[in-house]
Amino acid sequence: MTGPVRNVDDLMATGHGYQRSMVLLAALKLGVFRALAAGACDAPALAKRIGADSGKLSVLLDALAPLGLVAKSGRRYRNAAAAREFLLPGKNSMESILLHHLDGWSDWGRLPATIRAGSAAKGGVEGSYQENFIRGMEENARERAAVVARRIRVRPGERVLDLGGGPGTYAVAWAEASPDARVTLFDTPGTLRVTRKILREKGASHRVSLVEGDFLVDPLGGPYDFVWISQILHAYSEADCVRILRKVRSALAVGGRAAVQEFVLAEGKTSPPGPVFFAVHMVAVTEGGRAYTAREIAGMMKASGFRRVVSGSPDPRGVGIVRGVR
Ligand SMILES: C[S@@+](CC[C@H](N)C(=O)[O-])C[C@H]1O[C@@H](n2cnc3c(N)ncnc32)[C@H](O)[C@@H]1O
Repeated sequence: MTGPVRNVDDLMATGHGYQRSMVLLAALKLGVFRALAAGACDAPALAKRIGADSGKLSVLLDALAPLGLVAKSGRRYRNAAAAREFLLPGKNSMESILLHHLDGWSDWGRLPATIRAGSAAKGGVEGSYQENFIRGMEENARERAAVVARRIRVRPGERVLDLGGGPGTYAVAWAEASPDARVTLFDTPGTLRVTRKILREKGASHRVSLVEGDFLVDPLGGPYDFVWISQILHAYSEADCVRILRKVRSALAVGGRAAVQEFVLAEGKTSPPGPVFFAVHMVAVTEGGRAYTAREIAGMMKASGFRRVVSGSPDPRGVGIVRGVR
């Protein structure tokens, strides 16, 4: 059920949609799909493999069948095609980003309290949080990064900053598209611990220089010819976004370019659905963040001193880019 509510069945499907979500996320967290990749088996055998209660696990496994994630024949379960493609390690894996959604589950459970109080009612964070988050960003960006790096050209020798570059998907894409560019990725120490692992796994550590810091308080270095600010602003209030963008502008050479990439809300803020629900996610998990319209992003860039500010059309997921020049 992804469209609007038109009848009582749609209403109820929306109301208990979290049940389908948790069946998938619980199975993933328990390692069901990886364990089934070792061979089809019944619930007691699988319970032994993953360390779970066999009776309860069998109920969960049965619920994965109507989701199309496992197939059951007799008492034995095996991974269905969608699970084999997206829920196991591999080039199309979505494991980390889904586990990141599970990490946000308790924040969503506190959404009424957060909205009443006006700030995120925080719970504890799991040790695997940052790893799931940053690897999840790689899964989200891996197809788009090469397209963006071809569309936004970086000239030979230019100095590029990937601000809050996370997994380095975009930084590596620019380094590959323009081998002479000097690419720097700035992020927090906690994120860079994961970034280093990802770059090593890709054999790309030599392509990107890493700088540790908090971009709200630490110098960004520079001067740079191009600064890429992807999926950063939505975690911050408008006042903080302007602060960040002013800092970016000061770190650019005169004539240097900046590009902001975000899940962009249409005017009116009730579409497209992806960015609309993402905005609620930001309310649940951050202090001052939300999603912005292209006009709001352009307005913040102009307020930070950028000129020649232009917005591109968002892609089908609602991801759009706003560019400006110092
Ligand atoms: C949603 S991820 C986006 C990652 C990457 N830019 C992309 O589009 O795939 C946000 C990134 O910004 C980093 N970040 C957020 N606040 C930061 C801050 N104050 N200083 C440095 N990095 C920050 C996070 O650590 C994370 O890597």
